[in-house]
Amino acid sequence: MAYETPEIFDFDLDSGFCLQKEPMHRHLSAMNGMFHDEAAYQAAMKDNPRIYSFYDMDVPARSTDLAYGTSICYPGKVGDEFFMTKGHYHEIMDTAEVYYCQQGRGLMMMETLDGRWDCKELVPGRVVYVPGGWAHRSINIGDVPFVTFFVFRADAGHDYATIEHNSFRKCVVADQGGYAVIDNPNWQGGELAK
Ligand SMILES: [Fe+2]
Repeated sequence: MAYETPEIFDFDLDSGFCLQKEPMHRHLSAMNGMFHDEAAYQAAMKDNPRIYSFYDMDVPARSTDLAYGTSICYPGKVGDEFFMTKGHYHEIMDTAEVYYCQQGRGLMMMETLDGRWDCKELVPGRVVYVPGGWAHRSINIGDVPFVTFFVFRADAGHDYATIEHNSFRKCVVADQGGYAVIDNPNWQGGELAK
């Protein structure tokens, strides 16, 4: 099994891509219902753009291991809403994650089931610590790929279903050359989906 001995991988600092692994890609078609402007979503689906890429580095899913890799969210908007990742809770809820921004300018949108939310701006060199119990989503508010390097407990798992059902309380739209955090009209309440 890999990772029983020390391993080396190279990640390009600008693009975020790993030289030795193939990334996974998410296109707009995988994000039906996640952007607040449905008409803009349908219009953008003509091109079905790539929204983000990320790595699964095949670390064994054990509590004693650390999963890691890069997330690369591309620049762009659906209507007035910036490109973003789907976002997730961890299946083992009380597991944290670290995201180190290495390129671009973006946001980490976070919320909890008991009604708290937070949104932290990331620039290269800045780290956000996402505590256990906080759903998290990356949002690119800049003009170049927003690249973060993440590390979390390898058996934490991803609960995408809750976000696919509930969405996030807040969404981020372009506003006078910058951005604004607004209430998400698609938010469906703060319960787990399963
Ligand atoms: Fe995570």
